[in-house]
Amino acid sequence: MSDWWKKSVVYQVYPRSFCDSNGDGVGDLRGIIGKLDYIKTLGADVIWLNPIYASPNDDNGSDISDYYAIMPAFGTMAELDELLREAPARGLHILMDLVVNHTSDEHPWFKESRKSKDNPYRDFYIWREGKGTLPPNNWWSYFGGSAWQKCDETGEYYLHVFSRKQPDLNWENPAVRQEVYRIMRFWLDKGVDGFRMDVINYISKVPGLPDGPLMPNGLGDFGPGCINGPRIHEFLQEMNREVLSHYDVMTVGEMPGVSPEQACRYASVEGNELNMVFQFQHMELDFDERYSKWTLLPTPLDALRRNLSTWQTALHGKGWNSLYWNNHDQPRIVSRMGDDSTDALRTASAKMLGTLLHMMQGTPYVYEGEELGMTNVPFTSVEQYRDIDALNGYRELTIIHGLPHEEAFARVNGHSRDNARTPMQWDDSPNAGFTAGEPWIMMNPNYTTIHAAAQINDPDSVFSYYRQLIGLRKQYDIITEGDYEQLLENSKHFFAYRRHRNGQTLTVLCGFNRETIADDEVAPYCTGTQLLCNCSESSSGCWQPFETRVYLSQE
Ligand code: GLC
Repeated sequence: MSDWWKKSVVYQVYPRSFCDSNGDGVGDLRGIIGKLDYIKTLGADVIWLNPIYASPNDDNGSDISDYYAIMPAFGTMAELDELLREAPARGLHILMDLVVNHTSDEHPWFKESRKSKDNPYRDFYIWREGKGTLPPNNWWSYFGGSAWQKCDETGEYYLHVFSRKQPDLNWENPAVRQEVYRIMRFWLDKGVDGFRMDVINYISKVPGLPDGPLMPNGLGDFGPGCINGPRIHEFLQEMNREVLSHYDVMTVGEMPGVSPEQACRYASVEGNELNMVFQFQHMELDFDERYSKWTLLPTPLDALRRNLSTWQTALHGKGWNSLYWNNHDQPRIVSRMGDDSTDALRTASAKMLGTLLHMMQGTPYVYEGEELGMTNVPFTSVEQYRDIDALNGYRELTIIHGLPHEEAFARVNGHSRDNARTPMQWDDSPNAGFTAGEPWIMMNPNYTTIHAAAQINDPDSVFSYYRQLIGLRKQYDIITEGDYEQLLENSKHFFAYRRHRNGQTLTVLCGFNRETIADDEVAPYCTGTQLLCNCSESSSGCWQPFETRVYLSQE
């Protein structure tokens, strides 16, 4: 098998919010087809589509009711086939989302399963008797409340670590695994080039489903009983043997709670499981002790530097990293770790953060709008949220934790997934050129200034800069292959590192300074050919806000 995915850059499309071709306010496949040239211009070569299968949309498509059908709001199978012709015609690969830790409760398997204890599909899901009047164990559900739902038909409970409408599949049952492999073969035979696998390290549960440690919300953490469970490697190796090894594809497993050591196994160079994983540690450094992701804290630079450097070093030669700042589950990085308070700071910090990530070893992912420096959204009321997670988060903060509206709202606003889900900003026409109708979620009002049309031909734009970053990865093998050396490990302002390969050195200097500072810390490293700089007024003696530079030198 070739490893084309090592030199690739992935562009993530959230279909609901990318481009609406028919004016119903929801993005669709035809809209995506119309924007393939845009993605090609950026230089990405793989497109990951968030779930496009039939779904009642309790969790925006991560609750699938038919794995063999396209969600009507997104289009038809004929349009998907067209996409699978048009993308490769431009040298673009297509990755599908594979959500198989759970299905929708409206999936025919579940509808059968709930009917009776002896239904042939009963064992497709995880059913247990309650403990008296209580659920089978104390696990919380990620979207709030208990992870168990009682069904009248049999009086038993089913497990759902996400919403009530997302019952967990029982991977212990070989018939479930065979059905999943059948789904995978169907799409691979159609021509898709791989999968992003939704919470795939949740599929093996600890036998007996023991209670989890108590959390501040009074429920038990399902993590120890669900994440990286006892049979996870066996299941993934079987999937690899039965399906993946027969195709030249790329796979990335979404894996909350994964450590670098575990990642070396999941994404080992032997390649008997997956090609790479999405780790979460760098996205959790700002978490709040009590309110977890609903935090008001900044990400500390030293923790970020330590974490990403550890991943770079630990996986070098042993596994393969995925590199990401954004996706449909995270607030916008420029608002989170950069500065979106002025246009100049937003542009500079977006470019700096892009540099930091794209010069590392691994496969970079660009989430739609990141290449424009799109920001978090100034929501003004809870009614504007669409995401089950934001709505439940607000409810939990106000009702269980008793926070006043202002604080709860501020916490959810900062980290809501809806920040990333407002429509792509194409131009400054009404609704940013996303739709001729009423968008399914509000637009970020800043689309009148932050949009693709203004950036594509502007050499100083975030878009042009991302294009350069992607181009450098294609041009210099040191970026894909070089080893990693952390520099200035105690710096208050800089995230700096070096890559080495065959006598070459790539030096990457990224400033997290909001104001101009003296450059003495980094000056000694400013040698070699300067490949990139995000700053037009770069001058010796000082370092502009969020300035970044990349140097290449030969021994
Ligand atoms: C993953 C998805 C997220 C979804 C959840 C449940 O984390 O990325 O969007 O809500 O799984 O499927």
